[in-house]
Amino acid sequence: MTSEPRSIDEDRLRLGVNIDHVATVRNARGTTYPDPVAAALMAAKAGADGITAHLREDRRHITDGDIARLSAELTVPLNLEMAATDEMLAIALRHRPHAACIVPEKREELTTEGGLDVAGRFDLLAPMVAQLVAAGIRVSLFVEPDARQIDAALRLGAPVVELHTGRYAELPADGVADELRRLSDAAALAAKNGIEVHAGHGLTTANVGPVAAIRQIRELNIGHALIADALFVGLGDAVRAMRDAMDAAR
Ligand code: PXP
Repeated sequence: MTSEPRSIDEDRLRLGVNIDHVATVRNARGTTYPDPVAAALMAAKAGADGITAHLREDRRHITDGDIARLSAELTVPLNLEMAATDEMLAIALRHRPHAACIVPEKREELTTEGGLDVAGRFDLLAPMVAQLVAAGIRVSLFVEPDARQIDAALRLGAPVVELHTGRYAELPADGVADELRRLSDAAALAAKNGIEVHAGHGLTTANVGPVAAIRQIRELNIGHALIADALFVGLGDAVRAMRDAMDAAR
């Protein structure tokens, strides 16, 4: 998928909806429903600018078949989250999603814990980033808001970094100031060096505002809270409420 984000407003903050946990519910019973591809199409209709899906090595939620169908059926850009492995590289090169976000992955974790150590894994990542970029895939590296990681992403030639907001999301509302400063400093450093900045993990309608207010951030990728809200209000309303919370902060 090579389509550009639909907005022509350079300052508009894009919303990427992560549909992994629709697949989590489906896989809990081994049924064919709820269908993450149907959810993706519904999210796009409700205003998602893109769809994110993480094909984990253990296939605990999204499957290879889901990625094939998303690639064929989506009308908004697909962002494939992937571990830095040869298997995932081959899959990304086969499907050529609009974007590929490289994340650290440990089998036993509940979700992606911590950012990718770009600095420490530079030699492994360099050929992988080069091949994805050469295939026309917009590579993003999921990193902690840390100058050392931004600097390594810059040296790797990654066009995008996604800042990990997990630590921010876990803090009480009155204790986020230092972490917010880390996020905005990292966003400023990346943007100043020509890297597009995204952010995500643990964001909810309640905590998204201060992150959405960081002007250099161009895209947020949000999943768990949206799918949780969808249980109560439906996916369309959940996406619209997140969009409103993001726009209110901008
Ligand atoms: N961005 C990345 C790179 C992620 O790994 C995840 C979780 O899969 C998210 C965003 C979305 O996080 P959450 O599901 O907590 O909104």
